[in-house]
Amino acid sequence: MAKVKSSTSAPGSSSLDPTDIIVPDDEVDYQTASPDNASETGSSSYSLSSSVVNYTYENGRRYHAYREGAYFAPNDEQEQARMDLLQHIIRIVLKGDLFLAPIGPNPERVLDLGTGTGIWAINMADEFPKATVTGIDLSPIQSNWIPPNCYFQVDDFESPWDFWDFKKPFDFIHAGNLAGSVKDVPNLLQRAKDTLRPGGWFEFVDFAPEPFADDDTLNDAKYFREWSKLCDEASIKFGKRMNVTSFYKQWMIDAGYKDVNEVVHKVPVGRWPKDPKLKELGEYFRLEVLESLEAYSFALMTRVLGWSIEEVQAFLTELRSEINNRKLHIYSKLYIVYGRKPETGEN
Ligand SMILES: C[S@@+](CC[C@H](N)C(=O)[O-])C[C@H]1O[C@@H](n2cnc3c(N)ncnc32)[C@H](O)[C@@H]1O
Repeated sequence: MAKVKSSTSAPGSSSLDPTDIIVPDDEVDYQTASPDNASETGSSSYSLSSSVVNYTYENGRRYHAYREGAYFAPNDEQEQARMDLLQHIIRIVLKGDLFLAPIGPNPERVLDLGTGTGIWAINMADEFPKATVTGIDLSPIQSNWIPPNCYFQVDDFESPWDFWDFKKPFDFIHAGNLAGSVKDVPNLLQRAKDTLRPGGWFEFVDFAPEPFADDDTLNDAKYFREWSKLCDEASIKFGKRMNVTSFYKQWMIDAGYKDVNEVVHKVPVGRWPKDPKLKELGEYFRLEVLESLEAYSFALMTRVLGWSIEEVQAFLTELRSEINNRKLHIYSKLYIVYGRKPETGEN
């Protein structure tokens, strides 16, 4: 039977597993105005060649230069703020943890694929000062104020040549919010497994892009449902499918990982839940989802689906009012999926 989460829930419980039902707060009211308004062996400072920083600009947003066009979302400050907000939301859901895999107290080498602003890698390096944490990304958008055991590198984890040719194996590889960034996830998992030490862990953390509800208000989220379908369709045409989070577990098993675990949390979009902690989490997530609309739609819907920017903007205006509608009890699902490379000789 489904568990009911209400304001009487245990303090500190700000996330739900999929069997919980979120109780809506009928009293909720909030403004409807849209708030739209180095390498691993080197030092943390980059030598930035023009191929890395000659950014492209399109429809008012800035896009990466290295392997131009390989990734659909912008890399400007607006997008960096969104990524940091997303990390904050994930940490609330994970009750302050940075990951779920049982990596033990002394990881020596950690790799963060598609590190974005690098906030996860920085936090990881702080938490494990004896570990070396390397974050890699197509964009050099990471802070210069980083712990001495944290390194950033501009690189392409889908590079056809030797990105995966590391000198020493890793204890832990983390892949955060990479849905829509990877051409061939099973191949990535294989390369990662080859790069882990025996017994080392791989972990995905990612939101399912489609909206969910436990009542019939999903029927009224017409634009939200359509948007997630359009983004998925465009991402398939682009060659890097977005709607893949529910496949991670089986792909990890197929790639030969052991002790594969899938943990799913419901994360409300908006302040509609009754539970005060979920209400706060939902408000953060509503702001994040509003910010993600342009980031996810502009390039995919114009470049791939051929919409004009005016058509995209008109669609997003309708979608924003749905996201701000307190009567819709929409939530998303956060997937955390992790598994370990077999020990030598283990089947
Ligand atoms: C949605 S962001 C997630 C950032 C960060 N992991 C997080 O969870 O906040 C995806 C990141 O992956 C990077 N990325 C996409 N494709 C990549 C590739 N082939 N190689 C390296 N980084 C890539 C993008 O530049 C972007 O910073």
